[in-house]
Amino acid sequence: MEVRLALTGFGNVGQGVAHLLVERPEVYRDRYGVDLVLTGVADRGGSAVNPSGLDLAALFEAKRSQGTVAAAPGGHAGLAGEAFLDLAAAQVLLEASSTNFENAEPGWSYVLAALGRNMDVVLASKGALVLHFQELMEQARVRDLRVLFSATIGAPLPVIELAERVLIGNDILGFEGIVNATSNQILEAMSNGATYEEGVKQAQELGIAETDPTLDVDGWDAAAKAAIIADAVLGAALRLEDVQRHGMRDVTREELEQARQQNQRVKLVARVMRRDGGFEATVGPERRDRSDSIGRLEGGQMSITYFTHPLGTVNTTIEGGAGGLQTALTMLRDVVNLARDRGWASPSPR
Ligand SMILES: NC(=O)c1ccc[n+]([C@@H]2O[C@H](COP(=O)([O-])OP(=O)(O)OC[C@H]3O[C@@H](n4cnc5c(N)ncnc54)[C@H](OP(=O)(O)O)[C@@H]3O)[C@@H](O)[C@H]2O)c1
Repeated sequence: MEVRLALTGFGNVGQGVAHLLVERPEVYRDRYGVDLVLTGVADRGGSAVNPSGLDLAALFEAKRSQGTVAAAPGGHAGLAGEAFLDLAAAQVLLEASSTNFENAEPGWSYVLAALGRNMDVVLASKGALVLHFQELMEQARVRDLRVLFSATIGAPLPVIELAERVLIGNDILGFEGIVNATSNQILEAMSNGATYEEGVKQAQELGIAETDPTLDVDGWDAAAKAAIIADAVLGAALRLEDVQRHGMRDVTREELEQARQQNQRVKLVARVMRRDGGFEATVGPERRDRSDSIGRLEGGQMSITYFTHPLGTVNTTIEGGAGGLQTALTMLRDVVNLARDRGWASPSPR
């Protein structure tokens, strides 16, 4: 069945989504029975819309040559917000614009407008979840809509799926994770002798770190993810300031060398545990034995570990750190699961 998508943001992640729709549409159509059609894309310059489906090659060309999707066929300079969503006439909003933890814009307004138009929402941007998790879920619930956000919490790690679909019947007592690839990639480089600056540069060259890695190295990104996971999985209602946060900037090469000599690694660990009827949430560098589930992780590898009863400790690890393509794949994973839940997907032939 056709599923019409509107996309906000056409950077690494947004272009990754469009790339998958160009390169692998048959995977989604033949394997999962969903014909994914992009009917609208917005960037800071405006939007391109076509309710029958945009010309994706023209979209890439307009972005490359003119800097905005508004220069593509169906393009309107300055078209944004509710007017964009009305013209795109999509069933699902894919929100992949730049975000912040002060006002969560422009994502928060887009999400509210989409829910108000009876659209389900798939998020890559974290701001709305960090600042408005409860309200967002309530707004979706009262309209019987879905807000999915696998891409925000260490995409492509199956954080929510593990908790909701695999750990059925267990009490989740807490979790710890390596959810920020950048900081851990830098720590790895430094423990191999690089300076902090060289580590940042290496992570940028690998396409993991942004030009300004502050949110990663100071632990903001990991703290935001910890709060989102805690809200979603533990019902914690944490604010960002409830997470005790230490970044990895102060970790010295000497400490890393000492750890290495003792067969340990220093990793930036995010952890939330149920404690005394509340929650203890921390992000910070920790020394871990190379034999444990976190200490054995190299470079930009990510993992999530749940502490559960009665099953015990359950852990999953992902090799490649989150990048634009991995994040785009994860958004479309949410779209397929949404389509299945909604009965939009034909039964899978295999
Ligand atoms: N990159 C990753 O691996 C990753 C992983 C997980 C989550 N995320 C999140 O996903 C989102 C996108 O990441 P990215 O790496 O694609 O960032 P990016 O390359 O910087 O792209 C951001 C996009 O947002 C657009 N944008 C900014 N303000 C807008 C507005 N008011 N209206 C419409 N579009 C607007 C930008 O438009 P212009 O092109 O005109 O500047 C750009 O296309 C971010 O919130 C990020 O935190 C990223």
